[in-house]
Amino acid sequence: MTEDNKTKKLTSYGDKGFSQFIRQAFNRHLGYAPEDFTKPVIGICNTKSEINRCHSHIEPLITAIKNGVLMAGGIPLEFPTISLGEINTSPTTMLYRNLAAMDTEEMIRAQPIDGVVLIGGCDKVTPSQLMGAASANIPSILITGGPMNNGEYEGRTLGACSDCRFFWQEYRGEKVNDQEINEINKALAPTAGHCMVMGSASTMAVCAEAMGMMLPGGAAIPATHNRRLEHAVQTGKQIVELVEKNITPSQIITRKSLENAIRMLMAVGGSTNAVIHLTAIAGRLNIELPLDLFDELSRTTPFIANLRPAGKFQMEDFFKAGGAPVVLKELESLLYTEELTVTGKSLRENLKDVRCSDTYREIITRFEKPLHQEGGIAVLKGNLAPNGAVIKPKAASKELLKHKGRAVVFTSLKDLEERIDDPELDISPDDIMVLQNAGPIGGPGMPEAGMLPIPQKLLKQGVRDMIRISDARMSGTAFGTVILHAAPEAAAGGPIGLVKTGDIIELNVEERVLQLHVTDKELKKRRMEWKPPSYFERGYTSLYQKHVLQADKGCDFDFLVSNPDKR
Ligand code: FES
Repeated sequence: MTEDNKTKKLTSYGDKGFSQFIRQAFNRHLGYAPEDFTKPVIGICNTKSEINRCHSHIEPLITAIKNGVLMAGGIPLEFPTISLGEINTSPTTMLYRNLAAMDTEEMIRAQPIDGVVLIGGCDKVTPSQLMGAASANIPSILITGGPMNNGEYEGRTLGACSDCRFFWQEYRGEKVNDQEINEINKALAPTAGHCMVMGSASTMAVCAEAMGMMLPGGAAIPATHNRRLEHAVQTGKQIVELVEKNITPSQIITRKSLENAIRMLMAVGGSTNAVIHLTAIAGRLNIELPLDLFDELSRTTPFIANLRPAGKFQMEDFFKAGGAPVVLKELESLLYTEELTVTGKSLRENLKDVRCSDTYREIITRFEKPLHQEGGIAVLKGNLAPNGAVIKPKAASKELLKHKGRAVVFTSLKDLEERIDDPELDISPDDIMVLQNAGPIGGPGMPEAGMLPIPQKLLKQGVRDMIRISDARMSGTAFGTVILHAAPEAAAGGPIGLVKTGDIIELNVEERVLQLHVTDKELKKRRMEWKPPSYFERGYTSLYQKHVLQADKGCDFDFLVSNPDKR
C-alpha cells in the first residue's frame, strides 16, 4: 500500500499506532510478512456462486488472476461480493444491481487494497462492478467468466437464451411436442459460462472492452477455452502496472470512451439493457448520456456484427472472427481513439496490429459493407413516452415497424399472467399489447417482462409477433417488435399508465414516433383519476422504490449519481 492509503484505510480505534499494530498481527495469518504489504495489494472481487450458474466456474480464473498478480510483484487478496444470476433471482436481478454496485464500491473503498480485479459475467454483475469501480475510483480491471459454447439440437445451433424463448413459443403454439422440448431443454445451456448470444452479458463485456476497462479480446473468449486462463493471468499482471502508474477508472471512463462503448453497442446489435447500464455507469462519474445521444450514434453507426438475436452467429463464432477488437478496428474512423485504456495505452495503440481475416467476414463485416446502415437500437418519443422508449428494430418484424393499432392493456404482470391465455380474451394480431406497472418502481426492479407472450390462441393460428409496449425491460436475448423502458413509467404517473383497452396507438420507428391517439383533455381527466401504487414499507425494496431513477436516467439511486470525489 502507498503511505497515503495506509493512513486513509486504517480501521478506526482513535489510535493510529494501535491500528497498524493490530493489522500487522492479524495479517500474519494470511501468510505474509509485514514488509510484503509494501507491495501493491490487489483485491479480487469474487462473484462465484453455486446459485448463479454463469459464475460457477470462475475459481480457476481467480487462481490465474492471482498468479498474474504474484508474477508482477503484487499481493492478491480475494474477497466476495454479491453474485446475481438471472435465472434464479426473484423478482428480477435488476432490483439488486444497485445493491451489488454499492457492495462493490463500499468493499473496494473500505479495504486496504491498491487496485482491484472485478470478475463478472452474468447480465447485471458486469454493470454493477463498473458502477462500483467508477465510484470507488482506484485502479481497476474487469474480466468476465466468458460465454458458453454453442448448444446443438438435431444439427441446429442453439443459443441461450434466444432459443429458450423461441422454442417455448413454438411449444405453446403446439409446433414442438413434450419430448422435443425436453431434449431441447437439455441442449440449451451446455457448458460453463454466460449466455452465448449477444445478450446483455456479452453486450456489457464488449462495451467494457470498447470503453477501455477490459484487456483487448477478453469479451469473446469462450468460458471453456484455454485462452481465457491466459487472459486472466494477463489481467492479474496488468492491474499491478495500473497501480504503479495510478491509472484509475475516472481516467478511462470518459464521455468519449462511453461514446465508443455506445458505438460498439450499436454495431453489434447489442442488448437494450446496455442503454440503462451505460447511463448508470456514466452517472457515477457525473457524465450525462441522454437518450438522444444513443439514437444519434445509432443512426451513424453501421451494424457490422452478425450475431443473435438480431443476426445469425453466436459468441463462439464471434471469438473465431476476432471479437471486439475487430469490430473496433472496423469502426476506428468513428471512434475517439486517443482514449486511455487498461493496457496503459490508447485505444489507437491497442488497435495498431489488429487484423480482420476475410475468412470470417460473414460474422463481422467490413465497415463499408455493413449488414445494415444504422445501428441496432432506436429511441422513440411521443406522448406515450415523453422521456423516451427503446426498440431493437433489427430483432423486430419489418412490417410492424410502421403500424397503428388498438391497445389491449394489462395492468400488471399478475393481470397478464391471469388473462393472456384466456380463450375469451378480445385480441387480434393487429392489436398492440400494453403492459403497465412493470417499470423500476412498479415492478419493482423493472423485470425482463417486456417480451409479452403472444396469446396462445393466436400462436395456434400461426402468429409469432405483435407490437408490445411496456415500461419493463426485456432480456438481451429476446426478440420481436417490443418497445421497452417507456419513461416515465406507469407507477411514476407516466402516460403509459393512462392507456385503456381500445385506445389507438401509433408506432413509426423510422420517424421515431410512439403516439397515443387520445386527446389531451381526456388524458388530463384520466390523470386526475390515477392513483399512485403502494410502496414497500421496509427493507431494501422500500429504499429502492424511494430512490430509483427512471429508465432514461439509468435506474441508479439518486444519491449515488455524482462525482466520486464527493463524499
Ligand atoms: Fe447469466 Fe444469461 S443467465 S448471462
